[in-house]
Amino acid sequence: MAHVDYKDMRDYLGVLEENGLLKHVTAPVDLDYELGGIAARGLDKGGDSLVGLLFENINGYPGKRVVANILAKTEQLALAIGAEPDDMTLYERIGEARQSPIAPVQVSEAVCQEEVIAEEDVNLHDLPIPWWHEGDAGRYIGTTAGVTTMDPETGYINQGLYRCMILDDKTFSLQARGGHEIGENPTKTGYGGQSHILMNEAQGKPTPVALAIGMDPALTYAAGAFVHSDEIEHAEYAFAGALKGEPIEIVKCLNSDLLVPAYSEMIIEGEILPYERINEGPHGEHQGFYTAVDNVFIVHVKSISHRTDAIHYGLICRQQEDYPKFMYSAGMRTRLEQMGIGDLLEDVWCPDSTGGGFGVFAIIAAKARTPADVARIKDAITNLKEERYLVRRPRWTIVVDDDCDVRDWAEVMWRVALGVMPDAHLSISERNNAIWHEPLEVEFDAGSCVFVDATFKTKAGFDRPINALSRDLKARVDGRWRELGLD
Ligand SMILES: Cc1cc2nc3c(=O)[nH]c(=O)nc-3n(C[C@H](O)[C@H](O)[C@H](O)COP(=O)(O)O)c2cc1C
Repeated sequence: MAHVDYKDMRDYLGVLEENGLLKHVTAPVDLDYELGGIAARGLDKGGDSLVGLLFENINGYPGKRVVANILAKTEQLALAIGAEPDDMTLYERIGEARQSPIAPVQVSEAVCQEEVIAEEDVNLHDLPIPWWHEGDAGRYIGTTAGVTTMDPETGYINQGLYRCMILDDKTFSLQARGGHEIGENPTKTGYGGQSHILMNEAQGKPTPVALAIGMDPALTYAAGAFVHSDEIEHAEYAFAGALKGEPIEIVKCLNSDLLVPAYSEMIIEGEILPYERINEGPHGEHQGFYTAVDNVFIVHVKSISHRTDAIHYGLICRQQEDYPKFMYSAGMRTRLEQMGIGDLLEDVWCPDSTGGGFGVFAIIAAKARTPADVARIKDAITNLKEERYLVRRPRWTIVVDDDCDVRDWAEVMWRVALGVMPDAHLSISERNNAIWHEPLEVEFDAGSCVFVDATFKTKAGFDRPINALSRDLKARVDGRWRELGLD
């Protein structure tokens, strides 16, 4: 059973700080682009420079705070779910939690309702909502917020992370699984928020919606992960409870029967009216492009409730973002092990930089010694089958030797440049079953795949020692860098 040292997001920020994984930014920062830019650069820099950022001095918003980059690296996720900071261990822990949901408990009073702003006084522009990307069409209030809806048939609550952009003082757009034509048939199975809205619309009814802003990190993780919300009651809350090892406390909304996490920093309650749509975006998205979507829903805000001195939490959506997408690599490794090639795997890495971390590109460090070993890996990759939101066949697979650091792009590219004779070591599949098509116009999941054998050790006649520094020497030299006055 997991044990976490926090109750809510505020406690978690304290835990991060104690562990050197969060810093206070006290210098003045602009909400327009600059805050998003700082968060983005922290993500790019990675390593010790990637820490949670609590912005405490936002120009034009005295006393208001925004936090970012708190679920972006292995060490942070480990503290969020009470496990060792090792990706495979974390992946196993998440898998166990999926199998053993813990039902939430309903409470009658909650800190997220400490202070209430009634509809007539609501002005979304009073909130410190960043203009994340320079090319965004507006301020995105929903990036890490748990967008909460209820299945009108079962009464089960669903939470998803869906992007929401402020339209005016009292409305925002909500993009759940793209745009939706008016009159579109609701897709029931497992399609969360959008199916609830379309089910209500089919009966001419409005849909109550609540944005839970500043949830604890287990809830944020659960809201963004694929969960069987049509099969398990309040599935995201039950999954988050299992991740934390204790039930999530939930409270009834002020204007509807929706149930929201009691320890959220802020709850924005609203309603989607049937047959209303708007064009939304552009918005910088995780594939690395600005996108815009037609026919998204409009939420009319009914009230805002919040903790005293609420902290806003949001993310800049891009290839590297504040969500543990590195778990995808552990997922792919697990699948390949299940397919019987565990003996060949040293490491598996799907870099976020290659398209948002959803396995468009896989680098495999392999203990391969013969062409037959490489053929086994290729066979397993070719047979990876689509699993919704889980592992799919990557568009690009590069196999390197087991002494390659798969996270070191320069080293991987060196091996591709010198270890590959294209007519012999590179193959391109026909179009079937490869992941994610954007921005190229091909049918969904019907891309072709490249398999690159960039190993040296399996190639006949290769006998050259590599002249790179040994790992020990590199660590020793790096450890002295500051002492040598070179930092
Ligand atoms: C950071 C982040 C942002 C996301 N933004 C969106 C979004 O704008 N629209 C969307 O449909 N899904 C988005 N997703 C994916 C959904 O949150 C995810 O698929 C979730 O499982 C949806 O739950 P549902 O099946 O209940 O709809 C996002 C995921 C993450 C991690």
